[in-house]
Amino acid sequence: MALDVESIIKDFLILSTTTRGGKRLVYLDSAATSQKPESVINAVSDYYRTYNANIHRGLYDISAKATDAYIRSKELVAKLINAPSYNEVIYTRNTTESINLVGLSWAERNISKGDTVLITQMEHHSNIVPWQMLAKRKGAKVEYIKLADQATLNLEDYKKRLEKHPKLVAFTHVSNVLGTINDVRKLTKMAHDTGAVVVVDAAQSVPHMQVDVKSIGCDFMAFSSHKMLGPAGIGVLYGKEELLEQMEPIYGGGDMIRSVKFDGCTWNELPWKFEAGTSNVEGGIGLGTAVEYINRIGVKNIRKHEIDMTRYALKLLEEEQGVITYGIRRKDIDENNRAGVISFNIKGAHSHDVAEIFNSEGVAIRAGHHCAMPLVNEIIGEPSVARMSFYLYTRKEDIDTAIVAIQKVRKVLRLENK
Ligand SMILES: Cc1ncc(COP(=O)(O)O)c(C=O)c1O
Repeated sequence: MALDVESIIKDFLILSTTTRGGKRLVYLDSAATSQKPESVINAVSDYYRTYNANIHRGLYDISAKATDAYIRSKELVAKLINAPSYNEVIYTRNTTESINLVGLSWAERNISKGDTVLITQMEHHSNIVPWQMLAKRKGAKVEYIKLADQATLNLEDYKKRLEKHPKLVAFTHVSNVLGTINDVRKLTKMAHDTGAVVVVDAAQSVPHMQVDVKSIGCDFMAFSSHKMLGPAGIGVLYGKEELLEQMEPIYGGGDMIRSVKFDGCTWNELPWKFEAGTSNVEGGIGLGTAVEYINRIGVKNIRKHEIDMTRYALKLLEEEQGVITYGIRRKDIDENNRAGVISFNIKGAHSHDVAEIFNSEGVAIRAGHHCAMPLVNEIIGEPSVARMSFYLYTRKEDIDTAIVAIQKVRKVLRLENK
């Protein structure tokens, strides 16, 4: 079903504002963080205004109400990703903390000297650095699955590296630079066949497409609320119950214990064992409301809209002189392989200048290494790239404005004849 974007936009008041230069704000940076609908903003302020209380221990009405709302948000998240139960939904601060939790807990106990952690060349720093830190602590090694064509994973290289039996394999579902959607179900099965534990970075997939942890079969999955219409400061680690049960918590304190004596303590049940201290209650409530919003629009409809926007933008970008785009080519895009993220450069222009000139047209895009320095610098071979990214509120006219901004870049930087 086609999205009624005009009606969706009414839920995002920021999209009707103008920038300092008096231009309408065109927000093309949802891969960095999404905008928030009124329902999410209201849910958070309603909590503060009418039932602000700490959760779990309160024996009075507003604490019980806050506890119920927090748990309900976990139930909504579990259902969104088809996790069997909310026991498997741990709230963290963000994707980064979720991946670090696996590194500091599961991997800390199960990876030893000489072991290999296998990741890919297209990872965000959040799915590189925790493994490099682990490798340093343990004397283990990090290996990287190569890219085939600067856009997709080289499966032959993956197969070869799996023959060395890595203990853990971690990959992104969607690249935040290339927009490539990896076949995570297949990658997980291949890793499991060799006995590895699988971590999926779903920061760029859960907000935009149907993600089913049962069908993918991964052991852990990480994502962030702020990229899926929810508040910042709250993220999710999904983990299979049997693994979470075996794992040690990484933070100690209130809420994560069952009992404490002077000579030791025992852990609380899942998922609370991993959530020490007072929870981000408003964040959880906001995230639950964001999931309800996504469900109301339909994640399949969101995905379809984003493919349409991606195809439209790539076609216009191809027609612009001097524009280089990265990732899977327009002619090779299908329903399953490319998300609404387009990195590009304009020949002769630095991406920071591009982003500044876009800003003068009211268009918010990101420029730099996108927290994927090895990919951008060593595989794409550029110091930086500009990136536009789409969501359910992106309109064709937003992309048209971006094209006008590209033409302005060429004019301002006198690139017309280059
Ligand atoms: C693929 C990917 N992984 C991880 C992250 C990190 O997310 P956060 O900063 O919310 O932890 C991002 C953020 O851009 C991302 O795009």
